[in-house]
Amino acid sequence: MNIKFFGQSTFLLGMGDKELMFDPFISSNPLIMDKDLSNIKPDYILLSHGHGDHVEDTEPIAKNSNAKIISNYEITTYFGTKGIEGHPLNHGGKAQFDFGTVKYVNAIHTSSLPDGTYAGNPGGFVVWNSETCFYFAGDTALTMDMKLIPLTCPKLDFAILPIGDNFTMGYEDAAIAAEFIDCDKIIGCHFDTFGYIEIDKEAAAAAFKAKGKELILMEPGSTIQI
Ligand code: NI
Ligand code: MN
Repeated sequence: MNIKFFGQSTFLLGMGDKELMFDPFISSNPLIMDKDLSNIKPDYILLSHGHGDHVEDTEPIAKNSNAKIISNYEITTYFGTKGIEGHPLNHGGKAQFDFGTVKYVNAIHTSSLPDGTYAGNPGGFVVWNSETCFYFAGDTALTMDMKLIPLTCPKLDFAILPIGDNFTMGYEDAAIAAEFIDCDKIIGCHFDTFGYIEIDKEAAAAAFKAKGKELILMEPGSTIQI
């Protein structure tokens, strides 16, 4: 599976012959130099919650690519009023798509859209098909609810967790989250974009290593294969 990181929580993942974009925030993201959205053509855009650093470029990318939005009811309804098709989920619910299954899981955070519209409660996603399963946590604190993921979903191959502290869990708590979700390979996100969330990367890696976990810190603009 190809995974491209754009900084903050923005990822593009290939799943089978489909491309899934998560939380598109590129135009105002100081970490990503290439602001050209015209080459980004996902089949689906998954939105964890309504904050600007997660939804900023949803509308132009969706309109350019005809991507369908997967998010909670309130966020899909909001983008529906802009003419963008979406599939609404709510916490604990899962649905089948042509690339696999998506389950919308709990997150502890806040949520409203940039214009103040109510965005429902924030969430994360567990996504799987016959070959792979991963968890995209969105913005969240460490929560006991993470322990439900290994009980209710296939075994995770990797997870994308926020590690930047201040607005989400920091890397110390994220390393505990890796234990809660029973996952050994973690891609860190939501760090270094702004002053509030700058981290010591070596300390972050060490916190995961101490628990026998691998922390992958991707350069914005880079692609890896898992
Ligand atoms: Ni947020
Ligand atoms: Mn955020």
